[in-house]
Amino acid sequence: MLTVWEAIKIRRSIRKFAPDDIPDEMVEQVLEAARLAPSGSNRQPWCFLVVRDREARKELRRICLDQRFIEEAPVVIVCFGDLERYSPAARAKRRQEFMDSGVLATLSGRLANPEVRAAMDSAPAPSRQQLLTPLIANTYIAIEHLVLMATALGLGTCWVGAMSGELNRFFGLPDNLVPVAVIPLGYPAGEIPPQRPRLALEEILLKPPAQHKAEET
Ligand SMILES: Cc1cc2nc3c(=O)[nH]c(=O)nc-3n(C[C@H](O)[C@H](O)[C@H](O)COP(=O)(O)O)c2cc1C
Repeated sequence: MLTVWEAIKIRRSIRKFAPDDIPDEMVEQVLEAARLAPSGSNRQPWCFLVVRDREARKELRRICLDQRFIEEAPVVIVCFGDLERYSPAARAKRRQEFMDSGVLATLSGRLANPEVRAAMDSAPAPSRQQLLTPLIANTYIAIEHLVLMATALGLGTCWVGAMSGELNRFFGLPDNLVPVAVIPLGYPAGEIPPQRPRLALEEILLKPPAQHKAEET
């Protein structure tokens, strides 16, 4: 298996898949990588639907703006964020786990102050709209874990965010499950694409404010 660094360097968006099936153990391993991802307050909002059925993949292709490779891949993992993981009951459960596992004792700064935490806990419940940012951000982390594990196992993936709003209706899923991405999974076919361009380090590195000032004078 590749190291994390090797997988990060070698990963590409794969849009051509061989028809060969992939073993259940591999699917389980990529899901396990997703399961172990970190999340704010350990809410773990992600859930995954593993789709192997040809007809369902065909329908997924249609829902995802007719992107052909979605039907081609032997497995498609549909990734959702579950708003229920932010419910008061879920919050209470995670808080108890924090206490049971000794996490509270490791907190520092204002977060270590029980009064500050109590005030945070008693804040009004956020709206669905407000929850979408943490829900998507945290689910993205788990998805990228999954993608890198797939790469390390020699599988190809492609993040797919382009989709119409019909996923829940097609799978008969409730509204609390928010579709986040669709990940086709399979052995890459044909040539592995070259590395896509990336911004240079200088372009993504911000200068500390003091340095800006010094340059201005
Ligand atoms: C959130 C997200 C959504 C994306 N949605 C699509 C998509 O719908 N269709 C597609 O072909 N590629 C999609 N991509 C892949 C990007 O185009 C690709 O990651 C980018 O061009 C860099 O290429 P690379 O992944 O090969 O390094 C998506 C990537 C991300 C991270």
